[in-house]
Amino acid sequence: MDRKNQNKDKHTPVLLTKVLQVLDPKKGETYLDLTAGYGGHAMAVTQLTRNYKGCVLVDRDIEAVKSLQTLFQDKGARIIHSDFLSASESLQGEGQQFDLVLADLGVSSPHLDKASRGFSFAKDGPLDMRMDQTQALSAHTIVNSYSEALLSDLILRYGEEPKARQIARRIVVSRPIETTAQLATIVAKAWPGHSKVHPATRTFQALRIAVNNELELLRLSLPIWKDLLKPGGRMVIISFHSLEDRLVKQFLKEHSGNNYDAELRLIGKQPAIGDSQEIALNPRARSAKLRAAVKIKT
Ligand SMILES: C[S@@+](CC[C@H](N)C(=O)[O-])C[C@H]1O[C@@H](n2cnc3c(N)ncnc32)[C@H](O)[C@@H]1O
Repeated sequence: MDRKNQNKDKHTPVLLTKVLQVLDPKKGETYLDLTAGYGGHAMAVTQLTRNYKGCVLVDRDIEAVKSLQTLFQDKGARIIHSDFLSASESLQGEGQQFDLVLADLGVSSPHLDKASRGFSFAKDGPLDMRMDQTQALSAHTIVNSYSEALLSDLILRYGEEPKARQIARRIVVSRPIETTAQLATIVAKAWPGHSKVHPATRTFQALRIAVNNELELLRLSLPIWKDLLKPGGRMVIISFHSLEDRLVKQFLKEHSGNNYDAELRLIGKQPAIGDSQEIALNPRARSAKLRAAVKIKT
Protein backbone atom coordinates (compact mmCIF):
# COMPACT_ATOMS: atom_id res chain seq x y z
CA MET A 1 0.00 0.00 0.00
CA ASP A 2 1.45 3.43 -0.87
CA ARG A 3 1.72 6.20 1.71
CA LYS A 4 -1.31 8.05 0.39
CA ASN A 5 -3.59 5.03 0.80
CA GLN A 6 -2.06 4.11 4.12
CA ASN A 7 -3.13 7.49 5.48
CA LYS A 8 -6.65 6.83 4.28
CA ASP A 9 -6.81 3.90 6.69
CA LYS A 10 -5.68 6.00 9.62
CA HIS A 11 -8.00 6.98 12.40
CA THR A 12 -6.82 8.92 15.44
CA PRO A 13 -8.89 7.99 18.52
CA VAL A 14 -10.57 11.04 20.07
CA LEU A 15 -10.34 12.08 23.74
CA LEU A 16 -8.07 9.10 24.42
CA THR A 17 -6.58 10.47 27.66
CA LYS A 18 -10.04 11.19 29.02
CA VAL A 19 -11.36 7.77 27.92
CA LEU A 20 -8.55 6.03 29.82
CA GLN A 21 -8.99 8.27 32.85
CA VAL A 22 -12.71 7.54 33.07
CA LEU A 23 -12.70 3.86 32.11
CA ASP A 24 -9.71 3.37 34.42
CA PRO A 25 -8.89 -0.09 32.98
CA LYS A 26 -7.32 -2.54 35.41
CA LYS A 27 -5.38 -5.72 34.74
CA GLY A 28 -7.72 -8.63 34.00
CA GLU A 29 -10.84 -6.52 33.39
CA THR A 30 -13.18 -7.35 30.50
CA TYR A 31 -13.86 -4.83 27.71
CA LEU A 32 -16.63 -4.35 25.17
CA ASP A 33 -15.94 -1.85 22.37
CA LEU A 34 -19.14 -1.33 20.39
CA THR A 35 -17.59 0.81 17.65
CA ALA A 36 -14.05 -0.52 17.62
CA GLY A 37 -13.16 0.99 14.21
CA TYR A 38 -9.42 0.92 13.65
CA GLY A 39 -8.68 -0.18 17.20
CA GLY A 40 -7.09 2.99 18.61
CA HIS A 41 -9.09 3.06 21.84
CA ALA A 42 -9.14 -0.74 22.04
CA MET A 43 -5.36 -0.97 21.75
CA ALA A 44 -4.83 1.53 24.57
CA VAL A 45 -7.43 -0.13 26.83
CA THR A 46 -6.19 -3.70 26.28
CA GLN A 47 -2.59 -2.63 26.92
CA LEU A 48 -3.82 -1.94 30.45
CA THR A 49 -6.27 -4.84 30.92
CA ARG A 50 -3.95 -7.40 29.23
CA ASN A 51 -7.09 -9.51 28.94
CA TYR A 52 -7.58 -10.18 25.22
CA LYS A 53 -9.80 -13.21 25.80
CA GLY A 54 -12.17 -10.96 27.74
CA CYS A 55 -12.27 -8.37 24.96
CA VAL A 56 -15.12 -8.08 22.43
CA LEU A 57 -14.75 -5.68 19.49
CA VAL A 58 -17.76 -4.76 17.34
CA ASP A 59 -18.00 -2.82 14.08
CA ARG A 60 -20.48 -2.84 11.22
CA ASP A 61 -17.87 -1.84 8.63
CA ILE A 62 -16.01 -4.72 7.00
CA GLU A 63 -12.88 -2.59 6.36
CA ALA A 64 -12.69 -1.76 10.07
CA VAL A 65 -13.30 -5.40 10.98
CA LYS A 66 -10.43 -6.55 8.74
CA SER A 67 -8.14 -4.08 10.44
CA LEU A 68 -9.31 -5.27 13.89
CA GLN A 69 -8.67 -8.88 12.85
CA THR A 70 -5.11 -7.99 11.89
CA LEU A 71 -4.53 -6.24 15.20
CA PHE A 72 -6.39 -8.45 17.67
CA GLN A 73 -7.39 -11.84 16.27
CA ASP A 74 -4.14 -13.63 17.13
CA LYS A 75 -4.27 -12.25 20.65
CA GLY A 76 -7.60 -13.99 21.26
CA ALA A 77 -10.06 -11.07 21.17
CA ARG A 78 -13.54 -11.76 19.80
CA ILE A 79 -14.39 -9.61 16.79
CA ILE A 80 -17.99 -9.19 15.66
CA HIS A 81 -18.99 -7.77 12.27
CA SER A 82 -22.43 -6.41 13.03
CA ASP A 83 -24.35 -3.31 14.01
CA PHE A 84 -24.02 -2.69 17.73
CA LEU A 85 -27.69 -3.32 18.48
CA SER A 86 -27.65 -6.89 17.09
CA ALA A 87 -24.25 -7.55 18.70
CA SER A 88 -25.47 -6.23 22.07
CA GLU A 89 -28.62 -8.36 21.90
CA SER A 90 -26.51 -11.46 21.15
CA LEU A 91 -24.09 -10.75 24.01
CA GLN A 92 -27.02 -10.17 26.36
CA GLY A 93 -28.55 -13.47 25.20
CA GLU A 94 -25.27 -15.18 26.10
CA GLY A 95 -25.48 -13.68 29.60
CA GLN A 96 -22.27 -11.69 29.19
CA GLN A 97 -21.30 -8.68 31.28
CA PHE A 98 -18.24 -6.41 31.07
CA ASP A 99 -16.17 -4.19 33.36
CA LEU A 100 -15.64 -1.61 30.61
CA VAL A 101 -17.97 -0.55 27.80
CA LEU A 102 -17.08 2.02 25.14
CA ALA A 103 -19.12 3.47 22.26
CA ASP A 104 -17.29 6.05 20.14
CA LEU A 105 -20.17 6.84 17.80
CA GLY A 106 -20.36 7.97 14.21
CA VAL A 107 -18.00 7.66 11.30
CA SER A 108 -14.28 6.98 11.17
CA SER A 109 -11.70 9.07 9.31
CA PRO A 110 -11.44 6.48 6.49
CA HIS A 111 -15.19 6.88 5.89
CA LEU A 112 -14.68 10.59 5.26
CA ASP A 113 -11.31 10.34 3.55
CA LYS A 114 -12.21 7.72 0.94
CA ALA A 115 -14.25 9.34 -1.82
CA SER A 116 -15.62 5.92 -2.84
CA ARG A 117 -17.53 5.62 0.47
CA GLY A 118 -19.62 8.64 -0.51
CA PHE A 119 -19.77 10.32 2.93
CA SER A 120 -18.03 13.55 2.04
CA PHE A 121 -19.14 16.57 0.04
CA ALA A 122 -15.49 17.64 -0.07
CA LYS A 123 -14.47 14.52 -2.02
CA ASP A 124 -16.51 13.62 -5.06
CA GLY A 125 -17.77 10.05 -4.97
CA PRO A 126 -20.91 7.96 -5.46
CA LEU A 127 -23.85 8.77 -3.17
CA ASP A 128 -23.35 5.87 -0.79
CA MET A 129 -22.84 6.63 2.97
CA ARG A 130 -23.37 3.04 4.11
CA MET A 131 -21.22 2.11 7.09
CA ASP A 132 -22.11 -1.54 6.46
CA GLN A 133 -21.32 -2.16 2.81
CA THR A 134 -23.66 -5.19 2.70
CA GLN A 135 -26.75 -3.11 3.49
CA ALA A 136 -29.21 -2.37 0.65
CA LEU A 137 -30.26 1.20 1.52
CA SER A 138 -27.80 3.87 0.35
CA ALA A 139 -27.90 7.66 0.07
CA HIS A 140 -28.47 7.20 -3.67
CA THR A 141 -31.80 5.45 -3.01
CA ILE A 142 -32.97 8.13 -0.58
CA VAL A 143 -31.92 11.09 -2.73
CA ASN A 144 -33.33 9.65 -5.95
CA SER A 145 -36.51 7.90 -4.83
CA TYR A 146 -37.94 9.42 -1.62
CA SER A 147 -40.86 11.80 -2.00
CA GLU A 148 -40.24 15.53 -1.58
CA ALA A 149 -42.20 15.53 1.71
CA LEU A 150 -40.21 12.62 3.10
CA LEU A 151 -36.90 14.19 2.09
CA SER A 152 -37.87 17.51 3.60
CA ASP A 153 -38.89 15.86 6.88
CA LEU A 154 -35.69 13.82 7.04
CA ILE A 155 -33.41 16.81 6.33
CA LEU A 156 -35.23 18.90 8.94
CA ARG A 157 -35.30 16.18 11.60
CA TYR A 158 -31.82 14.68 11.23
CA GLY A 159 -30.01 17.75 9.89
CA GLU A 160 -31.88 20.46 11.85
CA GLU A 161 -31.65 22.30 8.53
CA PRO A 162 -33.83 25.45 8.41
CA LYS A 163 -34.00 25.35 4.59
CA ALA A 164 -35.05 21.68 4.46
CA ARG A 165 -38.12 22.37 2.30
CA GLN A 166 -36.25 24.38 -0.33
CA ILE A 167 -33.46 21.79 -0.40
CA ALA A 168 -35.89 18.90 -0.83
CA ARG A 169 -37.54 20.75 -3.74
CA ARG A 170 -34.20 21.40 -5.42
CA ILE A 171 -33.20 17.75 -5.01
CA VAL A 172 -36.43 16.47 -6.54
CA VAL A 173 -36.23 18.73 -9.62
CA SER A 174 -32.53 17.92 -10.16
CA ARG A 175 -32.86 14.12 -10.23
CA PRO A 176 -31.13 11.91 -11.13
CA ILE A 177 -28.28 12.86 -8.76
CA GLU A 178 -25.32 10.51 -8.85
CA THR A 179 -22.43 12.00 -6.86
CA THR A 180 -21.68 13.77 -3.59
CA ALA A 181 -20.31 16.83 -5.40
CA GLN A 182 -23.47 17.11 -7.52
CA LEU A 183 -25.62 16.96 -4.41
CA ALA A 184 -23.44 19.47 -2.53
CA THR A 185 -23.77 21.95 -5.42
CA ILE A 186 -27.56 21.54 -5.53
CA VAL A 187 -27.89 22.04 -1.75
CA ALA A 188 -25.52 25.05 -1.76
CA LYS A 189 -27.86 26.85 -4.21
CA ALA A 190 -30.47 26.97 -1.44
CA TRP A 191 -27.98 28.94 0.67
CA PRO A 192 -26.77 31.88 -1.44
CA GLY A 193 -24.20 34.17 0.21
CA HIS A 194 -21.69 33.40 2.91
CA SER A 195 -22.00 30.68 5.47
CA LYS A 196 -19.50 29.65 8.16
CA VAL A 197 -19.90 25.93 7.55
CA HIS A 198 -20.37 24.39 4.11
CA PRO A 199 -24.10 24.72 3.30
CA ALA A 200 -24.34 20.97 2.58
CA THR A 201 -23.09 19.94 6.06
CA ARG A 202 -26.52 19.54 7.63
CA THR A 203 -28.07 17.78 4.63
CA PHE A 204 -25.18 15.30 4.48
CA GLN A 205 -25.51 14.66 8.23
CA ALA A 206 -29.23 14.01 7.79
CA LEU A 207 -28.72 11.56 4.94
CA ARG A 208 -25.97 9.72 6.82
CA ILE A 209 -28.16 9.33 9.92
CA ALA A 210 -31.05 8.05 7.80
CA VAL A 211 -28.96 5.63 5.72
CA ASN A 212 -27.40 4.08 8.82
CA ASN A 213 -30.47 4.34 11.08
CA GLU A 214 -28.10 5.86 13.63
CA LEU A 215 -30.46 7.36 16.19
CA GLU A 216 -32.82 4.40 16.38
CA LEU A 217 -29.97 1.93 16.86
CA LEU A 218 -28.49 4.12 19.61
CA ARG A 219 -31.85 4.59 21.36
CA LEU A 220 -32.55 0.86 21.40
CA SER A 221 -28.99 -0.06 22.41
CA LEU A 222 -28.54 2.23 25.42
CA PRO A 223 -30.65 0.11 27.85
CA ILE A 224 -28.84 -3.05 26.73
CA TRP A 225 -25.44 -1.43 27.28
CA LYS A 226 -26.48 -0.62 30.84
CA ASP A 227 -27.40 -4.28 31.37
CA LEU A 228 -24.14 -5.44 29.79
CA LEU A 229 -22.18 -3.57 32.49
CA LYS A 230 -21.04 -5.46 35.56
CA PRO A 231 -21.72 -3.81 38.92
CA GLY A 232 -18.84 -1.35 39.39
CA GLY A 233 -18.26 -1.33 35.60
CA ARG A 234 -17.65 1.88 33.70
CA MET A 235 -19.31 2.99 30.45
CA VAL A 236 -18.15 5.78 28.13
CA ILE A 237 -20.14 7.12 25.18
CA ILE A 238 -18.68 9.67 22.78
CA SER A 239 -21.10 11.45 20.46
CA PHE A 240 -20.50 13.87 17.61
CA HIS A 241 -23.75 15.76 17.10
CA SER A 242 -26.47 17.17 19.29
CA LEU A 243 -29.13 14.63 18.28
CA GLU A 244 -27.15 11.63 19.53
CA ASP A 245 -25.76 13.52 22.54
CA ARG A 246 -29.33 14.38 23.56
CA LEU A 247 -30.30 10.69 23.55
CA VAL A 248 -27.25 9.76 25.63
CA LYS A 249 -27.73 12.63 28.09
CA GLN A 250 -31.42 11.84 28.63
CA PHE A 251 -30.77 8.13 29.06
CA LEU A 252 -27.99 8.64 31.61
CA LYS A 253 -30.09 11.19 33.49
CA GLU A 254 -33.06 8.81 33.65
CA HIS A 255 -31.00 5.98 35.14
CA SER A 256 -28.84 7.94 37.57
CA GLY A 257 -29.58 10.42 40.36
CA ASN A 258 -30.98 9.95 43.83
CA ASN A 259 -33.80 7.53 43.05
CA TYR A 260 -33.82 4.32 45.08
CA ASP A 261 -33.74 2.34 41.83
CA ALA A 262 -30.97 4.32 40.06
CA GLU A 263 -28.59 1.87 38.40
CA LEU A 264 -25.95 4.33 37.25
CA ARG A 265 -23.85 7.08 38.79
CA LEU A 266 -22.68 9.79 36.39
CA ILE A 267 -18.95 10.46 36.12
CA GLY A 268 -18.80 14.24 35.74
CA LYS A 269 -21.86 16.47 35.47
CA GLN A 270 -20.78 18.09 32.21
CA PRO A 271 -19.61 16.17 29.14
CA ALA A 272 -15.86 16.15 28.53
CA ILE A 273 -14.72 17.83 25.31
CA GLY A 274 -11.41 18.10 23.46
CA ASP A 275 -8.93 20.86 24.36
CA SER A 276 -7.53 23.24 21.76
CA GLN A 277 -4.35 21.19 21.38
CA GLU A 278 -6.24 17.98 20.54
CA ILE A 279 -8.62 19.83 18.22
CA ALA A 280 -5.66 21.35 16.35
CA LEU A 281 -4.15 17.90 15.86
CA ASN A 282 -7.41 16.05 15.20
CA PRO A 283 -10.27 18.21 13.86
CA ARG A 284 -12.76 15.33 14.46
CA ALA A 285 -12.36 16.05 18.18
CA ARG A 286 -13.99 19.47 17.65
CA SER A 287 -17.53 18.16 18.05
CA ALA A 288 -16.82 15.18 20.35
CA LYS A 289 -18.72 15.02 23.66
CA LEU A 290 -17.88 12.30 26.15
CA ARG A 291 -20.39 11.18 28.77
CA ALA A 292 -19.68 8.44 31.27
CA ALA A 293 -21.26 6.48 34.11
CA VAL A 294 -20.51 3.73 36.62
CA LYS A 295 -22.92 0.86 37.29
CA ILE A 296 -23.93 1.01 40.91
CA LYS A 297 -23.04 -2.07 42.96
CA THR A 298 -26.17 -3.66 44.38
C1 LIG B 1 -15.53 7.02 15.46
S1 LIG B 1 -15.22 5.45 14.76
C2 LIG B 1 -14.51 4.55 16.08
C3 LIG B 1 -13.02 4.60 16.12
C4 LIG B 1 -12.38 3.76 17.18
N1 LIG B 1 -12.78 4.13 18.51
C5 LIG B 1 -10.87 3.79 17.05
O1 LIG B 1 -10.19 4.20 18.01
O2 LIG B 1 -10.36 3.44 15.98
C6 LIG B 1 -16.82 4.77 14.75
C7 LIG B 1 -16.89 3.36 14.22
O3 LIG B 1 -18.14 2.85 14.61
C8 LIG B 1 -18.72 2.11 13.58
N2 LIG B 1 -20.16 2.20 13.81
C9 LIG B 1 -20.94 3.29 13.78
N3 LIG B 1 -22.20 2.98 14.07
C10 LIG B 1 -22.21 1.66 14.33
C11 LIG B 1 -23.23 0.74 14.70
N4 LIG B 1 -24.49 1.13 14.85
N5 LIG B 1 -22.89 -0.54 14.91
C12 LIG B 1 -21.60 -0.96 14.76
N6 LIG B 1 -20.60 -0.14 14.38
C13 LIG B 1 -20.90 1.16 14.17
C14 LIG B 1 -18.24 2.76 12.31
O4 LIG B 1 -18.22 1.84 11.26
C15 LIG B 1 -16.83 3.23 12.71
O5 LIG B 1 -15.86 2.29 12.35
